[in-house]
Amino acid sequence: MSEKRSGFSSRLGFVLAAAGSAVGLGNLWRFPYLAARYGGGMFLLVYLVLAVTFGFTLMMAEIAIGRKTGLSAIGAFRALNKKYTFIGYLASIPPIIILPYYCVIGGWVTKYLWVYLSGQGTAATETGFFKQFITQPGEPVLWFALYLGLTALVVLLGVEKGVEKVSKWLMPVLVVLSLFMAVYVLFLPGALEGVVYYLKPDFSHFSATTVLAALGQLFYSMSLAMGIMITYGSYMKKEDNLTASVRQIEIFDTGIAFVSGLMIVPAVFAFSGGNAEALDEGTSLMFSTLPRVFAGMPGGGIIGGVFFLLVLLAALTSSISLMETVVSIFQDKLKWSRRTTCLAVLGLCVVLGVPSSLGKGVWKSFTILGNDIFDFFDFAANSVIMPIVAFLTCVFVGYVLKPKTLIEEARLGRRDAVLFTVVIRYVAPVCILLILASSLMAKLGILTI
Ligand code: TRP
Repeated sequence: MSEKRSGFSSRLGFVLAAAGSAVGLGNLWRFPYLAARYGGGMFLLVYLVLAVTFGFTLMMAEIAIGRKTGLSAIGAFRALNKKYTFIGYLASIPPIIILPYYCVIGGWVTKYLWVYLSGQGTAATETGFFKQFITQPGEPVLWFALYLGLTALVVLLGVEKGVEKVSKWLMPVLVVLSLFMAVYVLFLPGALEGVVYYLKPDFSHFSATTVLAALGQLFYSMSLAMGIMITYGSYMKKEDNLTASVRQIEIFDTGIAFVSGLMIVPAVFAFSGGNAEALDEGTSLMFSTLPRVFAGMPGGGIIGGVFFLLVLLAALTSSISLMETVVSIFQDKLKWSRRTTCLAVLGLCVVLGVPSSLGKGVWKSFTILGNDIFDFFDFAANSVIMPIVAFLTCVFVGYVLKPKTLIEEARLGRRDAVLFTVVIRYVAPVCILLILASSLMAKLGILTI
């Protein structure tokens, strides 16, 4: 993204670049653990409904805003209406919060790659292996530093195009490998129950918290409500078909999340019978479940290594794009050189990332609203700021800019135009506000849901 507004040479190029940024740990690590925690099939259903309504509308709006103005978030809102520039600023906060803790997870992935490369894959199957690893004061911080250093190096050297090229070819391999693993897991004793849990909605699991979790995940996974898609849209050609691109990015992103859940959630049932504690394992779910799957596979040690290498690449393309975003936000504002800005962002990541890493271990007892530091950043970005940005974007487009402007920009057909208008003016703002308010009140202990 360093060459200014050079544009993508083809629509496929645009879709792949946007999908490369969207597909990452959100799909592979975050989606499965949320699905396991929030009722499997119910979560999946809520997520899919949100994806085709909110997801479609919001991504459409953001890309259209970007293409119409040819600018990134802050500039774009300013160009459309000076009074609403603050939405652009607000949208710049989530990437700054997400990047440091994203690199903490990236560090965990790097550690697991190392575990498999050095032939210790079987050790990782022991109960408590992951817990023991992340609760240490030193080791996870070092892996975080390594991963962050790698991300920063790529951004500093400006070689992200090279990384993108490699990962573009390797992502289909990751999809095929995940599918293969999902099928393998299916045949493990007890897994079928997990498949039912993952696919069959159980309405007793429906709650505002489930919906907020799904909504936050939608934003996170599709890189919405943080200005990213506005920037991508600014590189898109005027004559390209916007609706088709949005559909493809959505299908790509949701498909990978779905397969990832299909490989992890049934495995939880196969290994622990789906007891509540295992399903609620949260951030460590992927790391504690998959090694057990690999351990039972012929050649599992090698497959595990290949798998974590591919996850690492998927994570890297996302963290590079995140850091790139944060650097350009600061660069635009402070007018520092690219090098200085990169180093400053690196420093900021250390300052916020080290406590996030320690928050899972020695600093676990330090909590904010019941969350450790890591989970607090995740909660603040995905469950508070991004819903607010999404709400403001909808109100802005629906009532200030008027949906018609973007409908023309995106050349929507009649049916899509009606869906777009209804969702952006009425459904989305009302729902987001209700979900946000009820879940925040629950968090603060004012309401039980
Ligand atoms: N969507 C990415 C994922 O699923 C994570 C992400 C969030 C991201 N915000 C971003 C990636 C901004 C690139 C740019 O992992």
